[in-house]
Amino acid sequence: MVKRAAMLSVSLFFSSSSSHLLFLSKTLTKRTCFSSLATMSINLNAHAFAGNPIRSKTLKAHDPLSPSSAFQSLKTHLLQNPETTSLPPPPKSPLFKVLPFRKGRPLASSSITGNNDDDVPSWHLGWISLPDCKYFLGKCGMDLTEDSLVYLGSKIEDDVVYWAVDVSGESRLVPELGSKQFCFVELRTLMVATDWSDSIAMGELAIAGHARALLEWHNLSRFCGHCGEKTIPKEAGRRKQCSNESCKKRIYPRVDPVVIMLVIDRENDRALLGRQSRFVPRMWSCLAGFIEPGESLEEAVRRETYEEAGIEVGEVVYHSSQPWPVGPSSIPCQLMVGFFAFAKSLEINVDKEELEDAQWHSREDVRKALAVAEYKKAQKTTAAKVDQMCKGVEKGQSLSADFNVESGELAPMFFPGPFAIAHHLISTWANQDVPTDGVKAGSKQPSSSILNL
Ligand SMILES: *[C@@H]1O[C@H](CO)[C@@H](O)[C@H](O)[C@H]1NC(C)=O
Ligand SMILES: *[C@@H]1O[C@H](CO)[C@@H](O)[C@H](O)[C@H]1NC(C)=O
Ligand SMILES: [Zn+2]
Repeated sequence: MVKRAAMLSVSLFFSSSSSHLLFLSKTLTKRTCFSSLATMSINLNAHAFAGNPIRSKTLKAHDPLSPSSAFQSLKTHLLQNPETTSLPPPPKSPLFKVLPFRKGRPLASSSITGNNDDDVPSWHLGWISLPDCKYFLGKCGMDLTEDSLVYLGSKIEDDVVYWAVDVSGESRLVPELGSKQFCFVELRTLMVATDWSDSIAMGELAIAGHARALLEWHNLSRFCGHCGEKTIPKEAGRRKQCSNESCKKRIYPRVDPVVIMLVIDRENDRALLGRQSRFVPRMWSCLAGFIEPGESLEEAVRRETYEEAGIEVGEVVYHSSQPWPVGPSSIPCQLMVGFFAFAKSLEINVDKEELEDAQWHSREDVRKALAVAEYKKAQKTTAAKVDQMCKGVEKGQSLSADFNVESGELAPMFFPGPFAIAHHLISTWANQDVPTDGVKAGSKQPSSSILNL
């Protein structure tokens, strides 16, 4: 599991070349420390990438917004040539909106609402209409076919069906769309730039994550793993099937489950945090690892904790889960399953192949680190960067240097931002919302007090 665990570290947290956290040099007095505690816990309705607003309940096949009906009208639309209007427009067809992706990056735009100087820009998904999509691709000599579009969902109240399309092959689209102030932006950058108190923005992030996961999976599953023949999209791109008539294997989008756990030393009121060598300096987080075949979640928590840090875990308590579509493209969508894990042994023995370091940290130190980290400032700075990219001011995709703003005294440690489940596991424990009497995993539902999202 070493290799995969190493990949996980890249996908879970920022590598040293792209820190997105900022710190203010301020000496904490006891008072500022405690006044920050009140605002320290960031409450979300759902984790980043969960709560997708267009993933509506399954529609009946005859519903015009269902994948099969929408796919039929999509075909009719695409057959229409605006110059030779030989076919009548399809009757009662919903409106189609398309989100183009390039190398895993969704098309985005940015706008500033309000007239104040300190107004922060916010990004939006670059939905374009189906005719515009066809037009832009046509200008680059590319035909838009129904099989290249992937159904994302619908909004009944607006009578809209949403699609994604991968346009990685078309570099000429970049300046074309750039002239309209659209830009392909790394999903991780959008994740950091998203105002987590804005549920509409969080919804857009979830849509982009779902779409990216589906498109990456389409690219990874171009051939049948059974017989090696080409696969073809089915059900408007929601699954695939082998084109070999005597094989016809069905292939479904892939999810890779990962356990992520905050290991707690209840007796001494400490938590175990680890550092990957790829982390930016002073960043610490929860331990995590892929679940192996034939293993329960609790077993995976115990095995990974023992492998990485040599700590034996007893009780395992579920907290929440988070889809994580921002890992490497070879793993289109991880599902982070978050736990509190209560330690039975305390002596740390770090596996240097998997972790650079692991240490017990007191609750007080963790609280202080949470209080000084400027997550909001990092979010606003990133949002401003996305705005500049969309307006053509900022060309580069590398944002690293600007996100490592530090001055004066350094905070001794920091944690991933509120877009990551690790943040919520750590802050929930720091704010004492963890049940003090452990619950045996599986014997009881987690109480609502620990589902502090
Ligand atoms: C698909 O994957 C290949 C190899 O991993 C990569 O080179 C290519 O750019 C990807 N294509 C798209 C459309 O993402
Ligand atoms: C099609 O599938 C059959 C059965 O799995 C296999 O024997 C055959 O080689 C496949 N044909 C091609 C062209 O891949
Ligand atoms: Zn096959």
